[in-house]
Amino acid sequence: MDPTEIVNSLATPEGRADPYPLYAALHETGEAVQIGSGDVIVIGYDAINAVLRDPEFRVSDQSVFDRMPGWQANAVLVQGADWILNLNAPRHSRIRSLIARAFTARRIAGMRPAIEAMADKLLDTIADAGADGSSVEFMHDFAYLLPVNVICELIGIPERDREAFRPVARDLAAVFELHDAATLPAINAAAIELLAYFTALARQRRAAPRDDLLSDLLAISDSGDGRLSDAELLHNLTLLLVAGFETTTNLLGNGLQIILADPPAGDAVRDGSVSAPAFVEEVLRFDSPVQLTSRIGYDTVLADVPVSAHTEVITLLGAGNRDPRRFASPGRFDALRADGGPLSFGGGAHFCIGAALARLEGSVAFPRLLNRFPKISAAGEPTRRDTLVLRGFDELPIAVA
Ligand code: HEM
Repeated sequence: MDPTEIVNSLATPEGRADPYPLYAALHETGEAVQIGSGDVIVIGYDAINAVLRDPEFRVSDQSVFDRMPGWQANAVLVQGADWILNLNAPRHSRIRSLIARAFTARRIAGMRPAIEAMADKLLDTIADAGADGSSVEFMHDFAYLLPVNVICELIGIPERDREAFRPVARDLAAVFELHDAATLPAINAAAIELLAYFTALARQRRAAPRDDLLSDLLAISDSGDGRLSDAELLHNLTLLLVAGFETTTNLLGNGLQIILADPPAGDAVRDGSVSAPAFVEEVLRFDSPVQLTSRIGYDTVLADVPVSAHTEVITLLGAGNRDPRRFASPGRFDALRADGGPLSFGGGAHFCIGAALARLEGSVAFPRLLNRFPKISAAGEPTRRDTLVLRGFDELPIAVA
């Protein structure tokens, strides 16, 4: 099959539902292929790694927005122009290193008791709702609520505000699905609402700092040497929120679906023969919550394919994770595999800043869920979200009694 046809199939509902046979077909065409539009699609594990670790491959930044007349009228682009995800060196390094200072390993590890408590509370609700054998919706009742509560807790968003937050954050997360202009008004409205909220919260934390990420970031920003402006700080808070929760929601949903389809995979976590972190790592590889990211090329040759400064380079993380040159039997879920190392958090300068937090959430959630509900099973057909970049479920009905 022609690579362009395969890539076009990826954009169809069937391709989005199950991209893996298409990835397998692409692997047979090479590590990277140029398709009809001129874009280069990178499929091989090593080639993806090379692109992400090479600073000459740049992310789309404001200079790309500048080609769209009137982009400043879109709040999400104004904020997005400051997101570290959309910045190149040296601005990227400056802002990322400041954010990383408030995002320490200690702070993340210190979140464990709070994550455990939040997970247990959600499991209590599921136990009540499912006690009589009725079906419970895992995506809504757990996979969605845990990460959004965790990210709110980390930033320092009070519990009473979180309920109102979730739908807004979800609207904003639609920005990751590249091509749907119809969603732009809702995305902009969400961006405006979140920014207004963070601006007000920052005012409160400035007056009375607490032990949270927002207070830490404000202290860095207020140190007076102009290293982090208020706008940069506030805009990147909205990024943390959107980057941090739907991705982790999908990790939880994709992992549970693997267990429902293959109960021994869950038994192994329950009886401890597979550690929770090893299980999470294999879920990330097997069914990556983020399937792709992209870069702008430069004059070079990538796995025998010429690339120029005008080439959009799309790295298929989900395909790299199934590269037969890198992983033995890539289509087999095997949490004990020795050849781990998924590309699901990216690589290089933009490597996911929340990877440790997401791993922690998964490692806390799966054993608790499985031990609490030894009889957990599917209670109907799951429905996938019809999305290409973020891969996950809309609904995953389960029975727990
Ligand atoms: C399973 C969950 C997650 C997955 C699969 C994931 C995936 C990714 C990937 C692939 C990138 C790199 C994108 C690129 O190179 O273009 C990234 C970047 C990022 N992620 Fe995550 N992420 C997850 C959870 C989180 C969490 C929990 C947070 C925040 C608390 C977060 C915040 C970010 C930020 C801020 C960036 C941008 C980093 C930069 O550009 O320097 N992510 N993530």
